[in-house]
Amino acid sequence: MSTIFRLDSSIRTEGSVSRAVADTLEAAILEAEGGDTTVTRRDVGTQPLPGDVWATSAFAGFVPETEWTPEQRAAKAFAAELADEVVAADVLIIATPLYNFGVSAHLKLWIDTLISDPRFAPGTETVKGKPAFLVVARGGGYGEGTPRAGWDHATAYLRRILEDVWQLDLDVIETELTLAEVNPQMAELRDLAREQLAESHDAARAGGRSVTLKLRAAAA
Ligand SMILES: Cc1cc2nc3c(=O)[nH]c(=O)nc-3n(C[C@H](O)[C@H](O)[C@H](O)COP(=O)(O)O)c2cc1C
Repeated sequence: MSTIFRLDSSIRTEGSVSRAVADTLEAAILEAEGGDTTVTRRDVGTQPLPGDVWATSAFAGFVPETEWTPEQRAAKAFAAELADEVVAADVLIIATPLYNFGVSAHLKLWIDTLISDPRFAPGTETVKGKPAFLVVARGGGYGEGTPRAGWDHATAYLRRILEDVWQLDLDVIETELTLAEVNPQMAELRDLAREQLAESHDAARAGGRSVTLKLRAAAA
């Protein structure tokens, strides 16, 4: 039996591209793995973590456990619950939009709170080598040579945490120009946007199949 941990951070459910591509990926894994796979979900887009949990948990890290206040104890237990979900999974799917040229605040809060658990602090190897997918949706275009090249300040940060700090075996699936469908000023980019979206779904299907092979090889 294998377990998928899936985190969504889009603040919308209707029409969400990051959720749709993550759905394709999840379905591909479920199909390839057969019926014996469970999915653990965290939807920080529609159910954000409590705003003060990270600071309370982080500060508790500087105080001996015997001196923790009830609030610090609760925040630490909450961070441990988030950590348990990731540790228990065989594969991670983290889906996120680009918001205001940066990382979703809700996703950042999840990452910061997770890092406040000792198992996910920089320098630890708790999830080293675990297969993971980062699904990113961006409304605009940020390719080399475009006016906003370099303005996506989310993806590099997320790679830093997922690949370098937590040392996950990361696959990134990116879709751009998602606003072309609704923004008349981007109308001429619609064909390109549709092509990119189709490619992302293809990459999700292929990624789902190949991670299943990795999981089987690891279990053998
Ligand atoms: C509040 C907000 C801020 C956004 N900021 C950006 C941005 O800075 N750059 C960008 O390319 N798209 C931006 N977008 C567009 C989203 O990245 C795009 O719609 C993406 O597809 C959202 O993910 P979703 O489809 O999974 O909801 C923003 C959207 C919202 C709602």
